[in-house]
Amino acid sequence: MAPMTSPTAELEPFPKTHLLGIGDLSPPDIDILLDRSDAWADRNALPDNKHAILRGRTQINLFFEASTRTQSSFEIAGKRLGADVMNMSVASSSVNKGETLLDTAVTLNAMRPDLIVVRHHGSGAVELLARKVANCAVVNAGDGSHEHPTQALLDALTIRRRKGRIAGLKMAICGDIAHSRVARSNILLLTALGAQVNVVGPATLMPPAVERMGVSVFGDMDSGIADADVVMMLRLQRERMSGMYVPSSREFFHYYGLNARRLALAAPDALVMHPGPMNRGVEIDSDVADGVQSVIREQVEMGVAVRMAVLEALSQNQARDNREPGR
Ligand code: CP
Repeated sequence: MAPMTSPTAELEPFPKTHLLGIGDLSPPDIDILLDRSDAWADRNALPDNKHAILRGRTQINLFFEASTRTQSSFEIAGKRLGADVMNMSVASSSVNKGETLLDTAVTLNAMRPDLIVVRHHGSGAVELLARKVANCAVVNAGDGSHEHPTQALLDALTIRRRKGRIAGLKMAICGDIAHSRVARSNILLLTALGAQVNVVGPATLMPPAVERMGVSVFGDMDSGIADADVVMMLRLQRERMSGMYVPSSREFFHYYGLNARRLALAAPDALVMHPGPMNRGVEIDSDVADGVQSVIREQVEMGVAVRMAVLEALSQNQARDNREPGR
């Protein structure tokens, strides 16, 4: 096992109890998490990446919605740091017998976990849960169409490691902006760090007054991605749609799909990103998804580093809080 010393030992502590959304963070808070994630990404590239930093800590992953990348990377991150990780299967839990989210939270809290990672279909549900637990850090792994903070952090880490900076870059976030927590968290993070953000998609898939978030809105894909340093594609979030937002997948791809011709309009060294899961032939062409400009697999790799950094940083705060008298 690798030594107890963390690669983040000399870095600034993260000053929050929970990670609920990028909207709660200042630019320095975001930089602290990115610096810590960067250190873990370098450390993960070395052999022997099992650590004892969270030995004796219990992490519960509570996923009320399907997930491949987020749930597995939180599990790998916790286990790499030495935590005892429990994946709670909602399919076989008492939620199916009518138990509320808050009753589930109170029940789990009585087992004294140190970290709870939650994905829920309700916007704001994770914040509500965080108010009901004591001496336990809560991490938002995606709540409805509200926020997905660790996704935005891993996207920013991928960009920063490739481009060396975020400030001054031109980003195009394309597709279903209205239903996407990934878009929302990315807009908050990228604008906070000084990027120029274009959002691109049909009017039916734009949130009302999105320009108030400091972005430029484009209905035309070719104009929206022109000279972009990063093109981030999003899938149609059909599970959050009620009714028809696009005439057909075929038509959507015709107007808003990323193919080689369109990518040529972006900067020559533009990065192609996608949070996954991808729908090939709907929002992105396979040639582009698997092409030389794609960093989609790197995003997944950075996801483990970011989640290690977040779990470690919140655990350090918890250890400090628990030492304070009166708690
Ligand atoms: N990007 C993302 O959240 O993927 P999963 O739904 O597979 O976790």
